[in-house]
Parts: sequence; C-alpha cells; structure tokens
Amino acid sequence: MKKHRLAVYASHSAIQILLGAQEEGLPTTLFGPSDALRLYARFPSINSRIIEYKGPECLNVLKNEGHILIPSGSIVEYVGYDAIKKSGIPYFGLSELIKWESEWDLKIRLLESAGIPIPKTFKDPSSINTTVIVKLPGAKGGKGFFITDDPLIIKEKLAELLAMGKINSVDEVCIQEYLIGVTMYAHYFQSPMFDRLEITGFDIRYETNVDGLKRLPSLFAKNISPSFTVCGNIPVYPRERLLETFIQYGERFVEATRKLIPPGIIGPFSLECVINEELEPIVFEFSGRIVAGTNIYLLGSPYLKLYWGVDMSVGRRIAKEIKIAEETNRLEEIVT
Ligand SMILES: Nc1ncnc2c1ncn2[C@@H]1O[C@H](COP(=O)(O)OP(=O)(O)O)[C@@H](O)[C@H]1O
Ligand SMILES: [Mg+2]
Repeated sequence: MKKHRLAVYASHSAIQILLGAQEEGLPTTLFGPSDALRLYARFPSINSRIIEYKGPECLNVLKNEGHILIPSGSIVEYVGYDAIKKSGIPYFGLSELIKWESEWDLKIRLLESAGIPIPKTFKDPSSINTTVIVKLPGAKGGKGFFITDDPLIIKEKLAELLAMGKINSVDEVCIQEYLIGVTMYAHYFQSPMFDRLEITGFDIRYETNVDGLKRLPSLFAKNISPSFTVCGNIPVYPRERLLETFIQYGERFVEATRKLIPPGIIGPFSLECVINEELEPIVFEFSGRIVAGTNIYLLGSPYLKLYWGVDMSVGRRIAKEIKIAEETNRLEEIVT
C-alpha cells in the first residue's frame, strides 16, 4: 500500500491539519510563501517537511511526489481553482464545489435545493422591503459589505463599484435580508468511508468592527457602519434540542450536493447561521471545506468524541478518512 503525503497550505487551519496527520501517522508537506512558513518552523512539535511556494508549478512537484492536497479557506484565495485543476493533484473533497461557492447564484441555488431555511434575497434593489446586507463576490471576509434599508443607497453604491471596476456586473452582488438573531457556525464532516455525516462542533466568529460596536453606547455608534472582518473564533455549545435540527440541515445539504454536484460533498463543511427568536437556524451561507472555526477544537471536538471515543480534531478526522481509504483501496471515493 502506497502512503500518500498530505500537502497543507501554510495558513488558516494548517496547525490543526498537521497535528491531526501526525496523530494518525501520515506524513505531511507544508507549503506557502516564505514569510508564512516562519511561524510553523517555530514549534518543535510540528515535524512536517516545509517547502516554499513560488507559484503553481509547485503543485506539479507535490503531485509527482504523491501528495494529496488538503484544501482550506486560503487555498482558493491564494492558489486558485484553475491552478489546482491544471496540476491534477488529488484534492481531498469535492473540488467542483469551489465554483458553486464563488458565485452567489449557484451558492443560493444549492442552499435552496437543500430545502433548509435561508434568508430572502432580492435581485432588484427597488424591491427590498426590509433591512438588507449587500455582499460583494468572493470569500472576502465580509470586506466591503454594507447594511441598509434604502434602495437608493444600494443603487448608488453599485454604480460606484461598477465605475471603480470592483465588480463587472450587479449580478455578482448578493442583496440578502439582514437576519436578526445570534450567529452560530455549524461544522460537519461527511464521510464516504462510513457513509455518514458527523457533526464536529460550533463556533461564533469574532468580527471587527461589528462585535466592537456592542461595547460602544449607541449614541456614539450611530455614524459608524458595521464591518465583518474575522479576527478570531469563540466556542459555543448550542442547546441540545438544536442539535437534531442542525444534523438534519447538514444531511439535507449533503443530499443537495449529491444531486447537483455528484458525487456530492466529501469531508468537512460548514453551514453559517443566524438563530432567530423562534429558535430556528437560518443558513445565510456555507463553506465547502474545513473552516477556521474548527481550530478551537484542536485538542478534540466534543461531538467527534461521540463517534470515535477519543479526542479528535477535524484535522485528525481528515487524516483518519484518508488513512482508512488508503488501507482499503478506496482512495478514489474521497479525492476529486
Ligand atoms: N443575512 C445575514 N444577516 C445577518 N448577518 C449576516 C448575514 N449574512 C452575513 N452576515 C454577517 O456578515 C458576516 C460575513 O458574511 P458572509 O456571508 O459569511 O461573508 P464572508 O464569508 O465573505 O465573510 C457573517 O459572518 C455575519 O456576521
Ligand atoms: Mg462566510
């Protein structure tokens, strides 16, 4: 049996993935720009091979050496879908999903077909009848998003963005109902090896400046518009009665990906929710791979313990799935 190495990009959730692979006895290669690598070399417990990423040809080298690429939020941003596809490196997960994630229309179509509660979206700014959050394309960490209840402000801003070349068409923007409630991000792992969905944890994003505004008396806050740049994650343990709801949402999401993007999602994903006063989670978007919110369970997820009986992070869970697939000659079921 050939043992693959895991290729991990130096950012986002790399520490968790590297440690998890070590725990499962799988070798790793960490790659990234030299200034990003310095951090990982500081920790004696990380014993990964480390190489510099100088451009897409690095992926060919990793492929020829027998690596499997472990995607994270950063890989789409800094390496890109085209470079990954062109290299042909085996990708742990459903690579096609990257395209569905980067376009609002596709993203919403997938959530809609999952039949889970989602916020209203508006095509035409004139038709808004509630406060909305206007989202720009791409995983921008909430950069440039704005909140308004005024159609004229949306029209003005969109014209400005078009004139500045920040968007090519208004279709790239999502005008979504602004949900009142508390945010909660649910994390899952869809396992082809066991044909089951495992729930892995929940977090809250700590976002500046919107979370900071709570500390300011409203009198001083009235001229400051909220922004949503993530600077950390906070654990949250949802009320137990919500767990079944979250698991059902996850199962419906998996089913929708199977129908629309066969063979369907593989490995970690996240549903990003606001829970309203009726205790109903509303899903405003998703991520189709490991998200940084799972880093808070680096020492073990409370739910993964229920499936596995041992302390397990999502990083280790990824390594476990790959290890089992290798041992049983089923690798083609978990890479695309
Ligand atoms: N419909 C919504 N209602 C309320 N808050 C929202 C809504 N959509 C997004 N947000 C807030 O904005 C943040 C960023 O939005 P998101 O769609 O996740 O974009 P990105 O992933 O690019 O950061 C979320 O984490 C959340 O705090
Ligand atoms: Mg998001």
